[in-house]
Amino acid sequence: MAEPETTRHQSTLGATLAGILDRSKRNRPDIQLLPEHRLDGLQVLVTGANKGLGLGISTLAAQRGATVWMACRSDGTEARRKVITAAGHDRVHLLSLDLMDISTIDALAHTLAERGVELDVVICNAGMVPVQARDSGAGLNAMNHVNWLAKPALLQALIREGVLQPGRTGPIPRVIFVGSESHRSAPPIDFDEAASFRDFPTSQVVAEYGKSKLLLHTWVSEFIRRMGPAEDSGLPLLSVHHLCPGAINSSIAREAPGWMQPLLKLTFALFFQAPLKAAEPVIYLAAAPELEGTTGTYLHMKQRKEPSAASRDPELGRRIHDLADHLIETRLRA
Ligand SMILES: NC(=O)c1ccc[n+]([C@@H]2O[C@H](COP(=O)([O-])OP(=O)(O)OC[C@H]3O[C@@H](n4cnc5c(N)ncnc54)[C@H](OP(=O)(O)O)[C@@H]3O)[C@@H](O)[C@H]2O)c1
Repeated sequence: MAEPETTRHQSTLGATLAGILDRSKRNRPDIQLLPEHRLDGLQVLVTGANKGLGLGISTLAAQRGATVWMACRSDGTEARRKVITAAGHDRVHLLSLDLMDISTIDALAHTLAERGVELDVVICNAGMVPVQARDSGAGLNAMNHVNWLAKPALLQALIREGVLQPGRTGPIPRVIFVGSESHRSAPPIDFDEAASFRDFPTSQVVAEYGKSKLLLHTWVSEFIRRMGPAEDSGLPLLSVHHLCPGAINSSIAREAPGWMQPLLKLTFALFFQAPLKAAEPVIYLAAAPELEGTTGTYLHMKQRKEPSAASRDPELGRRIHDLADHLIETRLRA
């Protein structure tokens, strides 16, 4: 079993320092979002679109010509207004989505199908960090549910409704997952734990977040293999990419204990990226013409990397896929 590649993200302090250090490195970027990277005429779905990175992604996508479907759990009216103002057009639509409630996932896919939408880009951005362990209502850890399991559930629903079409004629749809470098600090996947609710204290939250992101990146790596090149065309059925956007001045730590809030807010404001800036590599993955016909890019901010070796293990990938399918059927749809 592969041990963690690093211990940088096993505590709040460690993760915060790692975020600051990563931002201060002056590595030459491997990718650049250029003005010609456009999304004109494309239909783009963004989850967690009402704030933080999701709002940045929605804004940049709309500014680059996309019709944006902003999937939000909370009221997104104000966020939509901001995107319309920034983009100068109103091809910006709100959809309701609570990733812990599969009926809203199904309803979203159905609504898009009824409106005749065929998605060109799906950006699975929504994520959460609770203050301590929370049952999602399906006998699962809420963080694992939102940060991992709800993503396959959403994609299954979109594909079932024909809103997302793997292997369609024409440009290959792109699916982008927002993950985190914290997956490298996670211990080997405990499959029993992933399928159950286990209590943990506030001091463990950041380590547990890394575990949820390891589940995600392991699942994504397998999804990349499964959506890989078709025999006849040699092209992937879906272009699947994932990334860590780096530390962002967002509300991800909003549930942190009150005594931590002033320090976290100050640190985030001083050292972390603005969401619009952090959205650039996401939009690069969605729009860059050089990625047409490719799959499996992983970025850490603007650096190309491989995700952790553990997350790329095909046997673990097969098991995590099987587990996701099983949990969706037996817990989310029970
Ligand atoms: N912030 C960072 O430093 C950082 C670093 C690496 C990776 N990331 C990743 O970046 C992504 C965006 O996070 P952020 O920093 O922008 O955090 P954020 O400001 O807290 O935004 C999170 C978004 O996810 C939504 N969300 C949470 N639970 C949901 C649920 N059950 N159903 C539907 N939507 C839900 C939130 O909706 P509500 O407004 O309704 O809560 C919000 O729109 C996450 O995947 C996160 O793990 C963040």
